[in-house]
Amino acid sequence: MAYQTLQVQAQDRLMLITIHRPEKLNALNHVVMEELDLAVEEVLTREDIGGAIITGSGERAFVAGADIASFQQLSPEEARALSIKGQALFAKIERAPKPFLAAVNGFALGGGCELAMACHLRIASIQAKFGQPEINLGIIPGYGGTQRLPRLIGLTRALHLMLTGEMITAEQAQQYGLVIDVVPPAQLMEKSIALMQKLLSGPIHAIRHILHCALLAMNGSEEGYAAEAQAFSECFATADAREGIQAFLEKRKPRFQGK
Ligand code: COA
Repeated sequence: MAYQTLQVQAQDRLMLITIHRPEKLNALNHVVMEELDLAVEEVLTREDIGGAIITGSGERAFVAGADIASFQQLSPEEARALSIKGQALFAKIERAPKPFLAAVNGFALGGGCELAMACHLRIASIQAKFGQPEINLGIIPGYGGTQRLPRLIGLTRALHLMLTGEMITAEQAQQYGLVIDVVPPAQLMEKSIALMQKLLSGPIHAIRHILHCALLAMNGSEEGYAAEAQAFSECFATADAREGIQAFLEKRKPRFQGK
């Protein structure tokens, strides 16, 4: 299968998926989301593939978020549909019976942090930075972040990150329990592949059961995701969101007015 915004490579039983839009810090536009969906389906359906690593192209970013340029003309209804679609894709990864590992090589912001959180395992390069900066645009995380972040790092830290939009370093992310390991950039893929090869040589049925049962322990409610999609949509009816998105694209500070 030929992809436009992904580089997909199968080696042994492992699928390596690289999001490839380095000039936009691998931001998730609709083409990336469609292709990621296809690549995830490929991992799920191919019998010769036992799991996948997701990473970002270039040295700067894993994924710097959803594509903010595509937010410019988004109506609240379209925003809701976008949120539901993104939630569905990330839930597909989270619910996969095969392990997915995020090799976080740089910025994992907004949808990038949400994508990493949907994976079962995360290893970060020392250069990685994590955050949910949507608040700076006058909006909220819409691809499951409001649900997964509190579950993974606790409510206090999650609220702090989401309400301030501040980024954390890879070491902080490790302290928070968001990543299992922090490694030099040159070792990121080697370590990630080694971990996945270890899993893939293991008992795949036991692995499938662990993924399923552990997820049940951490399950967010459907209500939580529905509330997120609704709230994401409502943000797009505000003047603050229009201002926040415009300000990012004009490379200036937003002036929020509470409208
Ligand atoms: N959507 C669309 N484009 C994005 C993007 C995003 N989420 N993140 C970065 N880009 C683009 C920039 O607009 C810029 O494009 P240009 O060269 O055509 O102007 C390019 O990627 C490089 O980014 P730039 O902002 O110039 O790099 P920087 O080093 O100054 O800053 C970040 C890096 C990650 C701090 C900054 O790009 C950023 O804040 N990105 C948005 C993060 C975010 O809010 N994500 C959540 C979205 S819901």
